[in-house]
Amino acid sequence: MKIIVCENYEEMSKAGAEIIAETVKANPSCVLGLATGSTPVGMYKCLTEMNKAGEITFKDVTSYNLDEYYPLAPDHDQSYRYFMNHNLFDNIDIDKANTNVPDGLAEDPAAMGKAYDEAIKAAGGIDLQVLGLGPNGHIAFNEPEDELYVGTHLTGLTDSTIEANSRFFASKADVPTQAVTMGIGSIMQAKKIIVLASGKGKHDVIVKMQDDRITTQCPATLLKVHPDVVLICDKDAYNG
Ligand code: GLP
Repeated sequence: MKIIVCENYEEMSKAGAEIIAETVKANPSCVLGLATGSTPVGMYKCLTEMNKAGEITFKDVTSYNLDEYYPLAPDHDQSYRYFMNHNLFDNIDIDKANTNVPDGLAEDPAAMGKAYDEAIKAAGGIDLQVLGLGPNGHIAFNEPEDELYVGTHLTGLTDSTIEANSRFFASKADVPTQAVTMGIGSIMQAKKIIVLASGKGKHDVIVKMQDDRITTQCPATLLKVHPDVVLICDKDAYNG
């Protein structure tokens, strides 16, 4: 795993945007795996500026997002579909028809998950996957557990994640207790992965990502076995 330590959030955002821009320039019809959360917002702003300045175009790019709350409608203002539209898709020249987010209202989440993974495969696989980190080490919504799933699936959220994400909802009781998320296999099959981390709250996870052990109790440690991962963090996340 390569680690880039940036001075602050802005630098981290720029560094992440530059890697995405390089990928898109090298292959204008690439497949991006995208993430939500507060961490990638600055990076999405940088990409929007680059797109508006004519430096890159997303017109032939396809995207697959990691996860979605369940059950939650795409037009709910806390849904990840809404987040992506608002923070990126509405602001760049991507064809919305080529943007994919797991269906938070799927009647049969297992079938939806299988179809989602098959669609990624049919698109040629993910060229570049963006990840954030949960303070408990989750990636997407793969929470610390004894066993993890390979494919896209329905999962329960831990109390600590519900608590951490309640800042975006009116109250903790409003946070969905379940989500549909790509599994570890779906993430690991990406050709390249960038992980963004900002702030002291991610320090413990970053420490665990640097030794020689892996554990499903900190899903981010599993990334150590992927051949091309770049961790981009700011000093607060790196030094604690
Ligand atoms: C959610 C998402 C994760 C994301 C995490 C971190 O739980 N499912 O994919 O990495 O939030 O959020 P933040 O960037 O706000 O710290």
